[in-house]
Amino acid sequence: MSSSVVDSAGKSTAADALLVLNQLISDEEKVFLRRQPRSSELIAEAREHLAGGATSNWQIAEPQAVWMSHGAGSKVYDVDGTEYVDMHGGYGAAIAGHAHPAIVAAVSDRVRRGTHFAQPTEDAIWIAGELSRRFELPLWRFANSGTEATMDAVHLARAITDRDLIIKVEGCYHGHHDSVQVSVAPEAEEVGPAHKPAQVPSSTGIPRAITDLTLVVGFNDLDGVARLLDEYPGKIAGMIIEPIMMNAGIILPEPGYLDGLKELLNSRGALLAFDEVKTGLTAGPSGATGATGVTPDIICLAKAIGGGISVAAIGGTEEAMGHVSNGDYEMVGTFNGNPLAMAAARAMLCEVATPAAYERIDALRQQAVTGLEREIERNGLSAHVVAVGAKGCVVFSSEPVRDFRDFLGVDDSYSNAHWLYQHNGGVFLPPWGKSEQWLISVQHDEADIRRFTDNFAAFAAALRF
Ligand SMILES: Cc1ncc(COP(=O)(O)O)c(C=O)c1O
Repeated sequence: MSSSVVDSAGKSTAADALLVLNQLISDEEKVFLRRQPRSSELIAEAREHLAGGATSNWQIAEPQAVWMSHGAGSKVYDVDGTEYVDMHGGYGAAIAGHAHPAIVAAVSDRVRRGTHFAQPTEDAIWIAGELSRRFELPLWRFANSGTEATMDAVHLARAITDRDLIIKVEGCYHGHHDSVQVSVAPEAEEVGPAHKPAQVPSSTGIPRAITDLTLVVGFNDLDGVARLLDEYPGKIAGMIIEPIMMNAGIILPEPGYLDGLKELLNSRGALLAFDEVKTGLTAGPSGATGATGVTPDIICLAKAIGGGISVAAIGGTEEAMGHVSNGDYEMVGTFNGNPLAMAAARAMLCEVATPAAYERIDALRQQAVTGLEREIERNGLSAHVVAVGAKGCVVFSSEPVRDFRDFLGVDDSYSNAHWLYQHNGGVFLPPWGKSEQWLISVQHDEADIRRFTDNFAAFAAALRF
């Protein structure tokens, strides 16, 4: 039987469960499309000059991309005028919610005074100081996207150590530059043995010569890192990792894992870089670094720190960032420290991501988790909830997930059905099934979370037969 569905008498068959699930997906897809005629029109129009009919491949999820009109507070509105409680959060960037008054004021003021000089503005000093306080790394620079931040981190590790190889974790996503487009979401038949994962390119257009420089290891596998350091002595520049994995649902580091990595890598002259692009301000006010108490050599931030404007930051130890300060590593960019982005980031850190906001988010997370767990239990679903800070997800398996290989074993159809069901019920979760998480913003309230858990209750009941 499918482990996720039971009948009212406690008996079920895999075939019955699959029938119920497939019927539900098919019904919900029809409702989804019926509710979005204007999106369908825009997609058709867009295809003429916009490649693929959207602005990023990840904005196109089946049955079709949802085209947006505007957002306000905890809500977003599509071009058909439908309101949703937004728990997509623009892939985890919109922890401020939408049109937050502090961000609106800061950005409006900056727009009136000019938005681009390619020269530094004073806000950058305040932000760098605040990030140092929160993340306990002394020196910072800015960029424009998570991809740029992790690219700089990899370059910097190589520049500092004069070594070429890096280690990345199977199933972690760090953006779309060549060095990290390796084993992001490989298929089960591609991954190779667990003790020596294959280096699988994640897109076409990535030269083999570059993916060969990226060694792959499982999450929570400290011994795997030790093995690589032994196999390539003096050749590994460093390791980049999402300290809490957030592109494979949410996978938490086991106790001792992150500090073990830091010790091990540093003892061999290699650096540890945390990709906190997703966890940054969402796992807590000081990200996963604060939540786990492990400070790496380099931290990459993006997404939420801009309050909805594109900005990234990269921080490091005196030693690491010294290579930036002395000009050894050429860290540049026309829009780095862009005044508009800086104004938004300052308002975000100063007025939005406050201790009171995190208290509120913690209470709402608890409400969500309690509501979901109650329905999982009541309906006998094989599922569990993982949540940290403002983020969380339902994993449709009763087994804990400790690495990407476990994650591969989780049936994606239930997450897909859940996404559709929530969407048609007025809650916008991020698409892409089991990989993504919900986000609770500082502007959500109890009624928003109730809508989410009520939808989940109806979804869980719909899976029974
Ligand atoms: C952990 C992580 N790192 C880096 C990135 C890349 O960020 P961006 O899309 O801003 O380039 C992402 C994007 O989702 C991410 O999740």
